Amino acid sequence: MSTDKKPSGLAGIVAGETAICTVGKEGLGLTYRGYSIKDLAAQATFEEVAFLLLRGQLPSASDLAAYCQTLAALRGLPAALKTVLEQLPASSHPMDVLRTGCSALGCFEPEGKDRDALHVANRLLAAFPSMLLYWHHFARTGQRIETQTDDPNMAAHFLRLLWGKPADDLRVQTLDASFILYAEHEFNASTFAARVTTSTLADFYSAIGAGIGALRGPLHGGANEAAMELIETFSSPDDAEAGLMQMLQRKTLIMGFGHRVYKTSDPRNEPIKARARTLAKAVGDTRLFPIAERIEAVIWREKKLFPNLDFYSALAYHFSGIPTPLFTPIFVIARTSGWAAHIMEQRANNRLIRPTADYTGPEPRPFVPLAQR
Ligand code: COA
Repeated sequence: MSTDKKPSGLAGIVAGETAICTVGKEGLGLTYRGYSIKDLAAQATFEEVAFLLLRGQLPSASDLAAYCQTLAALRGLPAALKTVLEQLPASSHPMDVLRTGCSALGCFEPEGKDRDALHVANRLLAAFPSMLLYWHHFARTGQRIETQTDDPNMAAHFLRLLWGKPADDLRVQTLDASFILYAEHEFNASTFAARVTTSTLADFYSAIGAGIGALRGPLHGGANEAAMELIETFSSPDDAEAGLMQMLQRKTLIMGFGHRVYKTSDPRNEPIKARARTLAKAVGDTRLFPIAERIEAVIWREKKLFPNLDFYSALAYHFSGIPTPLFTPIFVIARTSGWAAHIMEQRANNRLIRPTADYTGPEPRPFVPLAQR
């Protein structure tokens, strides 16, 4: 038995190489293929970023137009998949719907010689909003919505399917920017799960399904929903401060705060907080944004913990009129671009990911037959 104390949760362990993203590296911060997240969130569109992640370079104007057309043409759902989605109860968590939809599409349109990895990546990117919102409407009202829209980008498509009419520019741009911020983040838990699955030579859908499963939990993607529930609990900033102090005393985890890699701030927080603030003004909010800022101040003062991307994303989505259970599925839609890039990178230089464990169980002992126990 080894007596070496290993960091738990693989903290600080370098588990492989990647050319896709840097997280918290000195002098680099958060970059996608060498471009800073600040520049991408301020100046690019999600489709440009997805192209960059999948192909390794920024698209030209004509590349981008062609890519947007490719994605738009893949928004329709096969009838058999709609039938599957119609069987899922209205009480399902939308993350379970996406996990199921991913798996079902893998049966109807398997990866193979007619459908290469890039096609499947684009198909899932384009079809996830359609699956989610087809089920969302059918489960609530029995309405079978048309998912093949001609909206120019994924954010506009998502909001049109949600509301049944085109969305305003502010909401489309906010969702688009949040897709960029959520698109990629190196060896986070869901990406690592997707890479482990890929390393067994499993198919693309299985690897994305593994990613969705890992993202569902509140320590990872599920934190944006939990953060919204927390913010909504309080009636005022003072009420939030009192409630937070009690939670900290009970050692309750405050969702949307802290990070495994970042130690002083999350570079994605500033751009999403600015957008949440703009939307708060646009909807005339005088309660939730001030509560969120007080929570931020208290958690920093008491624990030196900072908001991660999930905290103000929750408010930005809320002020955009997006129901809370759809927050983590939006993360899936965006992160599919990053997962797909990692699946392809893993395949390009694959070796089975299979670490070992320190054994902490009993010493060898004689087997006792059933009759003598
Ligand atoms: N609320 C309260 N305390 C927290 C906290 C939070 N959100 N995040 C970390 N801490 C505390 C830990 O309990 C620990 O305290 P201790 O030393 O007294 O045990 C200390 O801060 C250090 O945290 P650590 O255990 O090193 O964090 P981690 O790297 O294992 O976990 C997260 C990272 C993200 C899972 C963790 O910060 C967390 O659970 N955050 C809330 C969920 C969340 O927002 N997830 C989205 C991440 S992008």
